[in-house]
Amino acid sequence: MDARPRYDRATETLDPPFAILDLDALRANAADLVRRAGGKPIRVATKSIRCRPVLERIMAMDGFRGLMAFTLPEALWLARSGFTDILVAYPTADRAALAELAGDARLAREITVTVDSVEHLDYVDDAVADVHPRPEIRICLDIDAGFVAFGGKFRAGALRSSVREPEQAADLAAEIAKRPGFRLAGLMAYEAQIAGVGDDPPGNPAMTHAIRLMQQRSARELVTRRGRVVNAVRRLCDLDFVNGGGTGSVERTVREKAVTEVAAGSGFFHPRLFDFYRSFTGRPAALFALPVVRRPGPGTVTVLGGGYLASGAPGPSRLPQPYLPPGLRYTPDEGAGEVQTPLLGEAAEDLRVGDRVWFRHAKAGEMCERFAALHLIEGDELVGTVPTYRGEGRTFL
Ligand SMILES: Cc1ncc(COP(=O)(O)O)c(C=O)c1O
Repeated sequence: MDARPRYDRATETLDPPFAILDLDALRANAADLVRRAGGKPIRVATKSIRCRPVLERIMAMDGFRGLMAFTLPEALWLARSGFTDILVAYPTADRAALAELAGDARLAREITVTVDSVEHLDYVDDAVADVHPRPEIRICLDIDAGFVAFGGKFRAGALRSSVREPEQAADLAAEIAKRPGFRLAGLMAYEAQIAGVGDDPPGNPAMTHAIRLMQQRSARELVTRRGRVVNAVRRLCDLDFVNGGGTGSVERTVREKAVTEVAAGSGFFHPRLFDFYRSFTGRPAALFALPVVRRPGPGTVTVLGGGYLASGAPGPSRLPQPYLPPGLRYTPDEGAGEVQTPLLGEAAEDLRVGDRVWFRHAKAGEMCERFAALHLIEGDELVGTVPTYRGEGRTFL
């Protein structure tokens, strides 16, 4: 059965707005990530899921090991609810959460925090100064995996760590090793310019060509530099993990010998921005339904809500995609509205008040900040409803 009648039938007792998760699509996407990882474990990026019961389902499948959390309070909450091996992949400045981490030996064993500077180490030391005795705090060193060309005039990739070269990484690793109360547990180098940038975007062939060229050069540069950074640090201490990559780069990242695990999150829900990669085709798994509330004129319907813009550089790519029925588009004047969203297109002719329009978010986990629950769909049946982080009263960002 086509997706639209399947989803309409499964949710006929619900009043939109609501969000669903298609479990068949989720499983297919998970299996494809595992296939692409070619035997290396996948660390699951929680920011792209933001729903504990769904994280539990994923972690019960083969091929996944550990979580990549986005804040320390989130990681503490997840560890307390039974999740293990949690890497907080972004530096924290949360003093209370750091003190909480240091105050519990079990939590300190399961959670690793990320640093990229001596300033971070000083900050942690200061935040936990009153905790005695203090268990060792596990540290992950964040390495810049961005691409730089033309003597630094061109840069692609996220602006994160300033640690880029093997010597810098070794210096910071040596500093960590000599400080009491810390253990360097892992390295992370996330190549956003490959993993998070589709190499097959619509329109603009010149831009597509430029993206592919940049990604090819960047991957080539990274194989060497990431390998040298890892060697330089491994000469000083043992590492539990070397993490790299993301949904868009899984098969490429795992080919590097120095990388022991790859991160992925968006690939499970397969949001709109992940349609534009040549190396994989996911199935949209997370959708939200909005009700048609009025019909302003021929070929136009208005749905309730919809202005759920994704983070990142602003532009049309950050808007949700009106997905089903196909062929609906925004009006240039209103876009996706705060309370009401007009949609144009022939498909609008067949829609009546109360009908649903199904949307995909541009990104994965951010959709869950808008909805308290995900309704789980199996075939054309509703098989359960689970709370999102927001539904559990947890809004970490
Ligand atoms: C450190 C890190 N690793 C991996 C990822 C990839 O996550 P996803 O697979 O959800 O795109 C991200 C996304 O921003 C990230 O920040």
